Amino acid sequence: MKRVGIIGVGCSRFGVRDDVALQELAFEAVKEAVQDAGVNPADIELSVVGTVGTRNYELMPAVPINEYCGFSGRGPMRVEAACATGSAALYTAYTSISSGMADIAVAIGVEKMTEVDTATSLAVGGRSGNYLFEFHQYGTTFPGYYAMYASAHMARYGTTEKQMAMVAVKNHRNAALNPKAHFQKEISLEKALSSKYVAYPLKLFDCSPISDGAAAAILASEEKIRELGVDNPVWIDGVGYSSDTSNLTKRPDYVGLRTTVEAAAAAYKMAGIDNPVKQLDIAVVHDCFTIAEIMAYEDLRFCSKGEGGKFIENGDSDFGGRIPVNTFGGLKAKGHPLGATGVAMAYEAVKQLREEAGPLQVDLKNYRALTHNIGGTGHFGWVFILRR
Ligand code: COA
Repeated sequence: MKRVGIIGVGCSRFGVRDDVALQELAFEAVKEAVQDAGVNPADIELSVVGTVGTRNYELMPAVPINEYCGFSGRGPMRVEAACATGSAALYTAYTSISSGMADIAVAIGVEKMTEVDTATSLAVGGRSGNYLFEFHQYGTTFPGYYAMYASAHMARYGTTEKQMAMVAVKNHRNAALNPKAHFQKEISLEKALSSKYVAYPLKLFDCSPISDGAAAAILASEEKIRELGVDNPVWIDGVGYSSDTSNLTKRPDYVGLRTTVEAAAAAYKMAGIDNPVKQLDIAVVHDCFTIAEIMAYEDLRFCSKGEGGKFIENGDSDFGGRIPVNTFGGLKAKGHPLGATGVAMAYEAVKQLREEAGPLQVDLKNYRALTHNIGGTGHFGWVFILRR
């Protein structure tokens, strides 16, 4: 296998983006990534577009996006893995290079979720859990699914609504310093705790918002990186993925995600990581709901099972803590435009590793970062380990 590095990243402003069409939104990120990598779009051999697409008016967007971004003839596909779509795009670009099929490829993640109203978005989301056995029978929604995980975690480990609110407070505080974030303002613990219930025990501030946004990453082989004279590549040292049943009644418990555990184990093995908290400088994790971040601390082995609530309470995932998590605001406050999220995670990790994160910069010791992206309620799981 060839070694693969990320040589350019870009990210659009997240939020309600009714000022642009889907292609224009993608281009916002692609333009920045191409300039960052210092390459000519004509040099890109493969373009992979990740978009869930169920809320976009453009129903088969890969070709229109590639055409608008100047990659005509180089985009054979659109990939989809629910909320982990961006990671699937990144993985497809990665394997095309590691296998020797291409030397330079771009992964584009993009989503316009606000082209439909909240009720439609929630219904479409619920249908993507498991339509036949769950949505069709019970009208499930994603806040509802994760509420089930939150209730089980509270019952088994004594995790509290206050601890979940602390995840929201941290991530909003970080997003307040991120000019690309959907929500750029801090919230108090009281505000989070007094917000309305969406699906008990999850309240408004426990949920990621419905966002539009795009991100792009340009990947290249080691030989290509040398040829281009790129002096600051970020290497992909580890990749892990897994998938689980979409029929939640078949899951043994609701206090963690098997896909995270398995994807992390594979990525850690590939990157030679046995003590993640000691060997990584930052983590970008999938906090679609605050309970998801708490479960991620545990499933990624930052702490023991059941200790996630205490991890946030002790400030272990904050700046200066054991491992800063979601320094750009997470899905919770930066926003969660489904297809864009996984690529935006790579954007954040690369910015941190290149020490370009401005007021959100963490102190680097190991020059290694982790990204963790979940699709559905743990239907898909991806973990990448990046290193400068
Ligand atoms: N967190 C914080 N504030 C939020 C928010 C969120 N998740 N969602 C909306 N808001 C704010 C809006 O900015 C608005 O503020 P304003 O009155 O100051 O302008 C206010 O709350 C009402 O916004 P509105 O768009 O009417 O909210 P809503 O009730 O339509 O939607 C949710 C709220 C929680 C239902 C929606 O954000 C949601 O469905 N989130 C989950 C998305 C999801 O499932 N993603 C997939 C995950 S796997």
